[in-house]
Amino acid sequence: MLSTPPLSLYVHLPWCVRKCPYCDFNSHQARGALPFAAYVDALLADLEHDLPLAWGRTVQTVFFGGGTPSLFPPEAIDAFLQRASSLLRFAPGAEITLETNPGTAEHGRFEGYRAAGVNRLSFGIQSFDDGCLQRLGRIHDSAQARDAVKLAQDAGFDNFNLDLMYALPEQTLAMAERDIECAIALQPTHVSHYQLTLEPNTLFAARPPAGIPDDDASWDMQERCQALLADAGYAQYEVSAYARPGRRCAHNLNYWHFGDYLGIGAGAHGKLTLGADQSILRRWKSRHPADYLAKAGSPAAIGGDEPIAPQRRPFDYMLNALRLVDGFALPEFEARTGLPREAIASELAQATARGWIRIDGDHVAPTELGQRFTNDVISLFLAD
Ligand SMILES: C[S@@+](CC[C@H](N)C(=O)[O-])C[C@H]1O[C@@H](n2cnc3c(N)ncnc32)[C@H](O)[C@@H]1O
Ligand code: SF4
Repeated sequence: MLSTPPLSLYVHLPWCVRKCPYCDFNSHQARGALPFAAYVDALLADLEHDLPLAWGRTVQTVFFGGGTPSLFPPEAIDAFLQRASSLLRFAPGAEITLETNPGTAEHGRFEGYRAAGVNRLSFGIQSFDDGCLQRLGRIHDSAQARDAVKLAQDAGFDNFNLDLMYALPEQTLAMAERDIECAIALQPTHVSHYQLTLEPNTLFAARPPAGIPDDDASWDMQERCQALLADAGYAQYEVSAYARPGRRCAHNLNYWHFGDYLGIGAGAHGKLTLGADQSILRRWKSRHPADYLAKAGSPAAIGGDEPIAPQRRPFDYMLNALRLVDGFALPEFEARTGLPREAIASELAQATARGWIRIDGDHVAPTELGQRFTNDVISLFLAD
């Protein structure tokens, strides 16, 4: 029997100062003045249109992602949050995160975001090495990254994440370690540490940069950085996520536990459990900002609606839950997918036999080997 999981709200803001050559997110280089007010109106129309999918439910977390949300002035974020919280109930103390590019930090911005209700920031730092930042085509250097974090701290933000990438062109193990040490020195509550991947349809995929560390070197970086973070009090709880006690990202945890989310904005994806007909719906929106602006709030802005068929649910659930170091509980699998645990018994047995997972009563968690080969473990659950 499907039960209704917690609900989050994802808001996509699709513009950046410049497109980074490794990035395959739905982000577009800003040309000229951006239509902030019109985009906020479009987001609200989009949200109103989706409301019947979430009637009577409470939003536990909000995440402004991008793109570069920090290109938007605080007034635009404030206008959105005020109106959105009158359309939908927000849980008291809901985690509200905004992604920030250090190249867009301006005096006064962070105070404005805080006053608007944002209580968590996520900085796209990537590296503290100026050579690495240049090779990644970033618009900021390491000094600007540090200054941006300090501005946010001065504005009262004590809960923030730093995004770093590793296995960068020409990066050595010592350089990767140094990035972690620089991050820790800024006292974030959370660090995301992503291995650089060459995504299809990016400049890096078309013309891979020289000096990308091989798999063994990348693994050494991940292990060493994980140890440095652990020593400084940041426990790994997901493939790429590390947090101080009590500071895990509630929004991302809801994704990883196969919770529900409304996806608002150009190209945003949502996932909603519809209890009345025992179905799970995925919905996504038109990708291109101009198209989205023209159509938001009407059915034409829906890029697609797709039910998650029962035979697909084990894979979709595992794709998320097996990323978590602590794994998941079988009763949660049953509640979130509407399937009995017997539906995955043979796959769980195979994964156990290969040493990829450990089952303890009702609890399933990846082993260290399983954490290293997450994709192989997850692919066991693909329906034929
Ligand atoms: C949507 S971006 C948002 C951050 C913000 N736009 C910025 O870049 O400053 C989220 C994070 O994903 C990571 N990321 C983006 N492309 C990646 C790639 N090809 N491989 C690994 N991590 C990537 C980066 O660390 C980035 O900060
Ligand atoms: S700033 Fe962030 S979202 Fe924008 S292109 Fe670069 S990595 Fe992608």
